[in-house]
Amino acid sequence: AVVVLDYGSQYTQLIARRVRELGAYSVLLPGDADMARIEALKPKAIVLSGGPNSVHVEGAPTVPDGFFERVAETSTPVLGVCYGMQLLVQRLGGVVEAAVGKGEYGRMPVVYQSDDSLLYGKGSKAGDSEQVWMSHGDEATKLPSGFVCVGKSEAGAVVAIEDADRKLFGLQYHPEVTHSEKGTEMLRRFLFDIAGVKAEWSMQNVLDEQIAIVNEKVGKDAHVICALSGGVDSAVAATLVHKAIGDRLHCVFVDNGLLRYKEQERVMEMFKDHLHLPVDCVDHSEQMLKALAGVSDPEKKRKIIGAEFIECFKNFKSEIEKRTGVRPTFLVQGTLYPDVIESCPPPGSDQKHSHTIKSHHNVGGLPKELGFELVEPLRMLFKDEVRKLGALMDVPRTFLARHPFPGPGLGVRIVGDVTANNALDILRRADEIYINTIREFGLYDEIWQAFAYFLPVRTVGVQGDQRSHSFMIGLRAVCSSDGMTADWYPFPTEFLKTVSSRITNQVKEVNRVLYDINSKPPATIEVE
Ligand code: XMP
Repeated sequence: AVVVLDYGSQYTQLIARRVRELGAYSVLLPGDADMARIEALKPKAIVLSGGPNSVHVEGAPTVPDGFFERVAETSTPVLGVCYGMQLLVQRLGGVVEAAVGKGEYGRMPVVYQSDDSLLYGKGSKAGDSEQVWMSHGDEATKLPSGFVCVGKSEAGAVVAIEDADRKLFGLQYHPEVTHSEKGTEMLRRFLFDIAGVKAEWSMQNVLDEQIAIVNEKVGKDAHVICALSGGVDSAVAATLVHKAIGDRLHCVFVDNGLLRYKEQERVMEMFKDHLHLPVDCVDHSEQMLKALAGVSDPEKKRKIIGAEFIECFKNFKSEIEKRTGVRPTFLVQGTLYPDVIESCPPPGSDQKHSHTIKSHHNVGGLPKELGFELVEPLRMLFKDEVRKLGALMDVPRTFLARHPFPGPGLGVRIVGDVTANNALDILRRADEIYINTIREFGLYDEIWQAFAYFLPVRTVGVQGDQRSHSFMIGLRAVCSSDGMTADWYPFPTEFLKTVSSRITNQVKEVNRVLYDINSKPPATIEVE
């Protein structure tokens, strides 16, 4: 594997993804991981990520104990990016200083300092340049012995260094971001030409490997359950497991009464007719809505929705046991790599914190106490890889491109009591119009998540020559990479005009459409 050590940059995961896009398997570890843990992965190359710290700050993260000794013994190539480069310089005896008043940030050229450097490749000439995405407050003012400067910034800072003998490299900019125009080529050179990594990572290999792993783990007799949410991850995970063990997999799709317009019919058709998954649809809507009637506190609503789902799932488990005569012992989950990565510990803290979603986000999940052994075939994959894997197994592209949808469904998109005001029905119709209009304008794939929400507030309006006293619909659309932070999406005016008149014309219970222009923070993505 290619090991990426995380020092807290927002781009660390991007480095790992780029490495994989180039065809090499990458693993992300916290910057202070034990050397033994790193070596267990037999790294062919190591990348030290960027980070928000300065190497001068007390308690700033540093390389694992014994790092330089071990990479020297095994002659493992190392590339330090940004903070990673400063770690190389400082720890190997060079000097890093604050670039007082002249930090460099953003897109700018790097000028090559020699011909044919390893980093810029054969044929590169001193004086030539390329555009890169720079980001530094500190700079290397004295290089450790053995290093030469092969690239300088406009302001003359040392931004690319190499020690060809020890195979140590540093870049004061981010080759992993698309603003660095030849960044991908640089990473390719580092991985394949310099480090001799082999391009053996492909979704076909992952598929074959994971099928074998699932077979091995589940064995010849055990039965396996999977709760399909209607989202990409559980569907791809189930399809893979079905390929491995056939109809000893039992899937359930729960209609919790909080689904979108025609969602049940749409996903069931996909699962059954297209993917040929063994799946039961359990209609739990009546019970759910009964339990939710009159409840408007958001936390209470979430608890009820979660508890009802678990009860429903337990019933399904018993049903499968009755049907097959075997108690199912395994549970398929669509856990992805970003959920299991341990990220860089904050300065001065021993605590490792993973990117797991906040506990209140686990509504729609299943507790450990159910006693299943987990089958998580997507645990090592990023979302874009899951989509590729799904495409390999013939999961339709439109399905793979679906926006995320929360476990509690429309329950967190209706403010207050979901059973009041015919809100579910109104919201479903408005949301369908909104999403269809987004698709019509060709904007769906640009947006990370879009949905309508219902506000139980009546205002006065005029609809069809008559005075009305009707409800409000909010339109939310955000760009995000993981849902932790998000920016509101700027729709063209033409789109807003079209969608608001469509909703107010076609959904008579609504006389105002509001456009939500709030990022996260301070707002959350959902409204409850
Ligand atoms: P918020 O509203 O906290 O949401 O900004 C961030 C992301 O998480 C999704 N979300 C959930 N997903 N169960 C889920 O499976 C939940 O209980 C839940 N709550 C929020 C939300 O749709 C957004 O993508």
